[in-house]
Amino acid sequence: MSNEHLMLSQVSIEFPTPSGPFKVLDNVNLNIKEGEFVSLIGHSGCGKSTVLNIVAGLYEATTGGVILDGKEVTEPGPERAVVFQNHSLLPWLTAYENVELAVKQVFKKTKSKAEMDEWVKHNLELVHMSHAMHKRPDEISGGMKQRVGIARALAMEPKVLLMDEPFGALDALTRAHMQDSLIEIQARLNNTVIMITHDVDEAVLLSDRIVMMTNGPAATIGDILKVELPRPRNRVALADDAQYNHYRAEVLKFLYERQHRPEDKTEKKSEADVTSIAKGKINVKAA
Ligand SMILES: Nc1ncnc2c1ncn2[C@@H]1O[C@H](COP(=O)(O)OP(=O)(O)O)[C@@H](O)[C@H]1O
Ligand SMILES: [Mg+2]
Repeated sequence: MSNEHLMLSQVSIEFPTPSGPFKVLDNVNLNIKEGEFVSLIGHSGCGKSTVLNIVAGLYEATTGGVILDGKEVTEPGPERAVVFQNHSLLPWLTAYENVELAVKQVFKKTKSKAEMDEWVKHNLELVHMSHAMHKRPDEISGGMKQRVGIARALAMEPKVLLMDEPFGALDALTRAHMQDSLIEIQARLNNTVIMITHDVDEAVLLSDRIVMMTNGPAATIGDILKVELPRPRNRVALADDAQYNHYRAEVLKFLYERQHRPEDKTEKKSEADVTSIAKGKINVKAA
């Protein structure tokens, strides 16, 4: 027995293909503390969404598995809410009704109708969507839809919040606003968060740890960066902060020196070169 909160233990996964099994993840091991904010970063196609889908219970690991509070994850559950990249709201329901559906799923037996109504409104308020709660997805912007998706996830009071590039499609200002509200909400509720991102600044600003994945196939965790910046974190103050910039540079080095982008395959370095690069002997220009 272990008193760990969320454990990914020797997780490997293979998908069947016409030319035989395709190994996407190989021996991923990660222990996450309750209330911890972990970002997953890595080049496109390395297997980040696959990791999240396994924790969500949507994919089953071929070997190894995920344990949440002592119980193996075998299927999706409301204690692990997912926010997808492409805000998966039901198009025929209003923002309010989309959140209400999730609230009913979790609280039908424990909250009264009036309490559920209040809870739906409270969560829409958290993401500043009260003014548009009776609009349907096609009547609101992408940023607003994403906020409703986050409200829906939060309203389930999940122990674990799983987010797959949640702000990827947003403009810079909306993205900054959403990051700030996420920091605020997570500090208040102390959920455990796993967030996939492509954005190095976002990863450093939000995370307690940044998990950096190697390129696939058979991807695994290449390195983990502990971000020990005091909270609350202020994005403007951090822009000039030496420690912040050090963390940022560490992630960039991992992505552009230690792990080549898949598109760079034509000039793929030999194994010996890659080792030299990792040791800092060869200077590779970042893209
Ligand atoms: N259901 C599946 N069947 C077959 N291959 C899959 C499946 N899901 C993901 N993959 C493959 O696994 C690899 C990693 O995908 P993914 O986890 O989506 O990467 P990322 O999120 O890092 O961009 C890709 O090569 C993708 O084609
Ligand atoms: Mg993905």
